[in-house]
Amino acid sequence: MSSRRDLWYRLRPYLPNPSEVVPEAEGKLVRSVGLTLEAVGLSVSVGRQCVVCSRDGRKVEAEVVGFAGASIFLMPVKRVEGLEPGARVIPLAHSSAMRIGLQTLGRVINGLGQPLDGLGPLQGGEFLDAHPRDINPLKRHPISEPLDVGIRAINALVTVGRGQRMGLFAGSGVGKSVLMGMMTKYTTADVVVVGLVGERGREVKEFIDHILGPEGMQRAVVVASPADDAPLMRLRASQLASRVAEYYRDQGLNVLLLMDSLTRFAQAQREISLAIGEPPATKGYPPSVFAKIPELVERAGNAAEGEGSITAFYTVLTEGDDLQDPIADSARAILDGHIVLSRTLAEEGVYPAIDIEASISRAMPNIVPTEHLQLMQSFKQMLSRYNQNRDLITIGAYSAGSDPLTDQAIEKFPKLRAFIQQGLQESVHMPESMNNLRALLAPVQSKGGSPLAAAHNKTPANKNAST
Ligand SMILES: Nc1ncnc2c1ncn2[C@@H]1O[C@H](COP(=O)(O)OP(=O)(O)OP(=O)(O)O)[C@@H](O)[C@H]1O
Ligand SMILES: [Mg+2]
Repeated sequence: MSSRRDLWYRLRPYLPNPSEVVPEAEGKLVRSVGLTLEAVGLSVSVGRQCVVCSRDGRKVEAEVVGFAGASIFLMPVKRVEGLEPGARVIPLAHSSAMRIGLQTLGRVINGLGQPLDGLGPLQGGEFLDAHPRDINPLKRHPISEPLDVGIRAINALVTVGRGQRMGLFAGSGVGKSVLMGMMTKYTTADVVVVGLVGERGREVKEFIDHILGPEGMQRAVVVASPADDAPLMRLRASQLASRVAEYYRDQGLNVLLLMDSLTRFAQAQREISLAIGEPPATKGYPPSVFAKIPELVERAGNAAEGEGSITAFYTVLTEGDDLQDPIADSARAILDGHIVLSRTLAEEGVYPAIDIEASISRAMPNIVPTEHLQLMQSFKQMLSRYNQNRDLITIGAYSAGSDPLTDQAIEKFPKLRAFIQQGLQESVHMPESMNNLRALLAPVQSKGGSPLAAAHNKTPANKNAST
């Protein structure tokens, strides 16, 4: 007994919290290359938290990310400085859990669940269990009702359902963060969880102070991990944001999860996988990255009937505005729809720069009435007709009367543009969005002879309506 107590006292100065230590297993550091630490002499499983203690008393928290033979590979959670060969590697019994509850709303935390906002320790009645409960996919409530996000173009033309997972695809600087901030403020969801992962550090404060503001923060939790954090921290932040959203969903609340960005999450995973020796495949991304994306995205969605929901938006950075980027491709396949922001529109000063033609909500046909769907199709047809003939129209080569639909498109185009635009301080809820859309298209639909109206009259839904 006394030897155990001796060991306890000898280790005590090196440990962050002595009560969390399993004293019998300890290894030592033999290699440190790039981001990876290699240790021998301990047998721990992947995912286990350890603390690496240098001789001068520095402590670095690290996670086991792989092994080969007797070697264990670890990734530090924070930046590493001053570790030497032979530093002790001590497994922790469990990682510290964060407190959570309704009091957590309005707080900004990092990937470890520690507060970043200087408002003191987190309050809340419960400790957040690191592992989400499994939901049987057959028990998940189908997406059946729309969620009002407070953005006219999205509400009316790319309607998002409660529990739907959407992608927000755009190049850099096209307005992803601003659009997400607007949704946070104006949505009718009960709680908003924002994950800011791998973005510029300056942007985190800007997003919280200017884009969200006190109004947006009231029912939001922000999990932030800027670009200069260790990759493991960025990964943890993405996972924690999902976990926090799951917690509120399990309380029966409707949660809106906004993750900026999925690409940075994939890049953090790429850094880790390459560092531990996984071979790169597409564009330098190892195969495990493409497995991690669905794993993260699948955590959002509806719970069982009568329980809460997580509606999620994941921003996807399309580098060089390339929609064929492997991450964009893989995200598009797993998500239930995407909103594309267009650089051309942003350059023309149209904000939010939503490219309506390229955006789609796969759940929309199941959650809106037929009339709404027809209006959306009319809008898209007219916009697309204008864009097809845009060059001719611009140089004056289109002669009026050649095509009735094009004539209407030219007449309506300024209004179609104005419909998409929305001021930063303006919220447009679902009923108003629909009234605006009806008002915009009503004269078109009432002109029975127009090709557009003829097309509508042919739709099966319309036939049913008239019988
Ligand atoms: N709705 C809007 N109204 C007016 N200006 C806007 C709007 N949305 C975006 N902008 C302008 O576009 C700029 C970039 O927007 P934002 O920071 O949201 O882009 P981003 O896509 O998140 O960029 P990054 O990829 O760098 O994170 C803003 O600083 C602002 O000037
Ligand atoms: Mg941004």
